[in-house]
Amino acid sequence: MRPALAFIFVFFALSNYVHGARILGLFPHTGRSHHMVFEPLLQKLAERGHHVTVASFFPLKNPPANYTDVSFEGIAKVGVETFDLNWFENPEFILRIPIIGSIYKQVIDFLPLRDMALNMCSKAIDWPPLKEALSKEYDVVLVENFNSDCMIGMLHVYKIKAPVVSLLSSNLMPWTAERIGATDNPSYVPIITTSFTAQMKFLERMENTFMKLFLSYWYRQAVQMKEQAMIEKHYGIKIPELSHLVKNISLILINTHHAFNGAKPLVPGLVEVGGMHLNSRREVIPEVSDLNNVYCLI
Ligand SMILES: *[C@@H]1O[C@H](CO)[C@@H](O)[C@H](O)[C@H]1NC(C)=O
Ligand SMILES: *[C@@H]1O[C@H](CO)[C@@H](O)[C@H](O)[C@H]1NC(C)=O
Repeated sequence: MRPALAFIFVFFALSNYVHGARILGLFPHTGRSHHMVFEPLLQKLAERGHHVTVASFFPLKNPPANYTDVSFEGIAKVGVETFDLNWFENPEFILRIPIIGSIYKQVIDFLPLRDMALNMCSKAIDWPPLKEALSKEYDVVLVENFNSDCMIGMLHVYKIKAPVVSLLSSNLMPWTAERIGATDNPSYVPIITTSFTAQMKFLERMENTFMKLFLSYWYRQAVQMKEQAMIEKHYGIKIPELSHLVKNISLILINTHHAFNGAKPLVPGLVEVGGMHLNSRREVIPEVSDLNNVYCLI
């Protein structure tokens, strides 16, 4: 072996000096239950030696070393998006009409997501701690994929070229699969707002297809285009359509498991990580004494 080669070999063999990645996490949704899925991953990345910067509504009380919180607290109220279960138990008249009622309910369920997204985006684009975090360099960016693509637009504005990993705490949103080239053919992939399984009857498939087309159209018009307009107005520049920018996402991690959520077609960039947030310690399940006042957090 030539001396130079030998030196390089010995250097790497003896060296335990490694650089952690610089990771940016952008989690602009106010729902605590979503963040409960992401938080253990973010913490673990920091514990394993990476530099993790997390913009969210839920700063850690005891962050590990090299974990930096960028708080969205103050942008919007946390935990307001709760459903009163009475809405399901004593439905109004229209909800009791077959098909129409079901479609109406799914639309009504989703409309608040638009207001939450636009409110958050209008403030986040001018949020000094976020702007400061976005001015730094990163090796990889983690972004929640839910009701907004505002952060994808911000990454473009701040010319962050690092690969983007999208995380879902739920099943696929109607607009998620196509951005990574997966198929969610509504004839056998039930969309998240329905209660269907993969085995649908003809009318159920019709309803599923309608909801998929409607919500995808609604999302582009009512959320993505509005967010793009907000960003362009605020920064005085033109940016590509958010529905194009999201096609550059490198990987999508989804909190589902085929044993639980049913089989669906996947591509290598769409990975099921159902339960990645679960603590492996075995603990006693606490008894629930009062089921009358249960609210469902989204
Ligand atoms: C935090 O980052 C510094 C600088 O990169 C590094 O020296 C240190 O080991 C890291 N701490 C932990 C606990 O990973
Ligand atoms: C997507 O990424 C590629 C490769 O990094 C880049 O050339 C292209 O401009 C990006 N597209 C958009 C819309 O940003």
